[in-house]
Amino acid sequence: MSVASNIERLRRQLEEHNHRYYVLDDPSVPDAEYDRLFEQLQKLEAEHPEFASADSPTQRVGGAPRAGFVEVQHRLPMQSLRKCADEDELRDFDRRVRETLNVESAAYVAEPKLDGLAVSLSYEHGVFVRGATRGDGATGEDITENLRTIRRIPLRLRGDVPPVVEVRGEVYLPLAGFKRMVDEATASGDKVPVNPRNAAAGSLRQLDSRITARRPLAFYAYGVGYSEGWKAPKRHSQALEQLRDWGFPVSEHVRAVQGIDGCIAFFEDIGRKRAGLGFDIDGVVFKLDDLAGREELGSVSREPRWACAYKFAAEEAQTLLEGIEFQVGRTGAITPVARLKPVFVGGANVSNATLHNMDEVKRKDVRVGDTVLVRRAGDVIPEVIGAVLEDEAAREAHLLRPEPEMLTECPVCNGKVERVEGEVVARCANGLSCRAQLHGALIHFVSRKAMDVEKLGEKLLAQLIDQNIVRSPADIYDTTKVNAGVLTDLERMAEKSASNVIAAIEDSKSTTFQRFLYSLGCPQVGETTARDLARQFGDIEALIAAAERDAEHAKAQRALRLAREAQEREQDKKIRRSEAERAPAYPELQAVPDVGETVAAHICLFFSEPHNREVIAKLLEAGVNWPAPKAAATGNLSGKTFVITGTLPGVSREEASALIEANGGKLSGSVSKNTDFLLAGEAAGSKLAKAEKLGVSVIDLAALHRLIESAD
Ligand code: IVH
Repeated sequence: MSVASNIERLRRQLEEHNHRYYVLDDPSVPDAEYDRLFEQLQKLEAEHPEFASADSPTQRVGGAPRAGFVEVQHRLPMQSLRKCADEDELRDFDRRVRETLNVESAAYVAEPKLDGLAVSLSYEHGVFVRGATRGDGATGEDITENLRTIRRIPLRLRGDVPPVVEVRGEVYLPLAGFKRMVDEATASGDKVPVNPRNAAAGSLRQLDSRITARRPLAFYAYGVGYSEGWKAPKRHSQALEQLRDWGFPVSEHVRAVQGIDGCIAFFEDIGRKRAGLGFDIDGVVFKLDDLAGREELGSVSREPRWACAYKFAAEEAQTLLEGIEFQVGRTGAITPVARLKPVFVGGANVSNATLHNMDEVKRKDVRVGDTVLVRRAGDVIPEVIGAVLEDEAAREAHLLRPEPEMLTECPVCNGKVERVEGEVVARCANGLSCRAQLHGALIHFVSRKAMDVEKLGEKLLAQLIDQNIVRSPADIYDTTKVNAGVLTDLERMAEKSASNVIAAIEDSKSTTFQRFLYSLGCPQVGETTARDLARQFGDIEALIAAAERDAEHAKAQRALRLAREAQEREQDKKIRRSEAERAPAYPELQAVPDVGETVAAHICLFFSEPHNREVIAKLLEAGVNWPAPKAAATGNLSGKTFVITGTLPGVSREEASALIEANGGKLSGSVSKNTDFLLAGEAAGSKLAKAEKLGVSVIDLAALHRLIESAD
């Protein structure tokens, strides 16, 4: 076989594999085989530069950087779409179509409106020769080299091809690819893209196509533009079929729909699927299916009358960042909040949005006075995504604005602001003497999943704080402070409602240990951890005692570490950590499922605070109570500690745990030298290795049953 035909054969094979992999999502060969063919082709092309060709699959990796982009005149204008803001406007669109065409009901093609960039792809005799951006619709930029790197754009068409055809579609960035770009930019300290659309635009406008080649861009075709020697079909849906046959990806969500009802049903359906698509769409494009009808309808002001874009309510909008303020949460966490020029986004007016923490503010580099992008998705709190620095002027103005800085004093109580090493949040150190923290703590304390004090709402709590009646959660149960008489003196408090509140407070005293624990609002102790702690320790005294022992243990371990580090400095060499130093720092707390070192440290710190201990004592004194822990069941497992790992045959973990507890055994989340048995199922991992190392008995389910039934 001649070199030329060998090269040609490899190119065909590789494009075929590409098509199967990227367009049909149905790979035909293993990656290694593809790579082998690819390298073979690369080698032949290098040895025979005379056979070089721009449509070779080897050209998809990008080439030398360019100085700039050349303008391209579109042979047919790239029009934009008329937008329908609501159902009425969509009905208007349909009515005009029906009236002009004089039909009862029109057939449309419904296509997801991809949120990317429109491009034009020109093919001559089936070979990709030029690709351009939309630009102003009449002239765009030649980005052929960059488009060549997108695997879903065929470099050669399949089957029967006309001499000239221009295909139009959207280049976009799937969400997974966007996430990857954000992670990479964050890691390398580069500018983090604001949204998938911007990331796609930035990638396509790279002067160095090798950079574009590394971006996971995708493409969907949605129409045919200029052509020569092509007999256009009668319907748009047939044109889309033709595009598929030529080797283009056409969205699988495209549907032929009938009349306005079909349009609305499609819009609602895709709205439900939207979150699971894996890429952003911002609405639906409805296009008249009958191409002759399109001629009849024509265009007005660069918008065809035969198509429209029905957009979802905007979830992103631009607005002015008027200021940055700071809010203090119940744990003292200080959160920067953006004050925005009100903007309608995602179906609501937004004037505040969270900025999370100062690291985020730095990363997003937003400054007061910037125009920012705001997002509101579903019922999620609105969020500032980043500054919009589209042109040089905006960038310059941005750089002249001062960088936002963290406060050094709490904006509510002027207390000291502290930032624990390794944590991103800064906190007011004033605890419950900070009004904001007290209010937050009380709201949490009385909430449904905590002490569940009905009738004691945020406003009433605020009044109680402002009148200096309540200064800690314990005061709520102190009848010398909160009683019917005091309450009736408050604003909007009739005698009847006052006595209701008092009854609700009284009612809430009978609770569970889990709720009580959760209501204390220890940082990092949510509902689940409170439940697990309650299960493990049974009562508050046991928990506090364990926290005290663990705090001592951690302190001793820290001393070991410091001593070793001092020794290392002295001897100028690394010293192995001892067994004791490698063990869990907080052994009793860390034995609880999902409690790690950080959570354990927070728990110890919380219970070591005299103020917190005082609140707990007062609450108990005031009569807050819960049922005594069930005496540990007695049985053959009593006094033994178990850890479960892997998948157990036929029983869930919960069932196995219940079985162990019912027979007097105790459960722990991690293996230590205090573990008596590791109950191991399929695919047991690190816990098994650890148990073997520590010499802990490893048993299976059958052995557990034997233990339970054994007489001794
Ligand atoms: S058709 C006249 N179909 O929407 C027809 N456009 O506002 C014009 N777009 O610039 C384009 N998905 O970037 C069409 N399925 C789709 C589309 C789509 C997204 C974008 C495209 C265009 C803009 C028009």
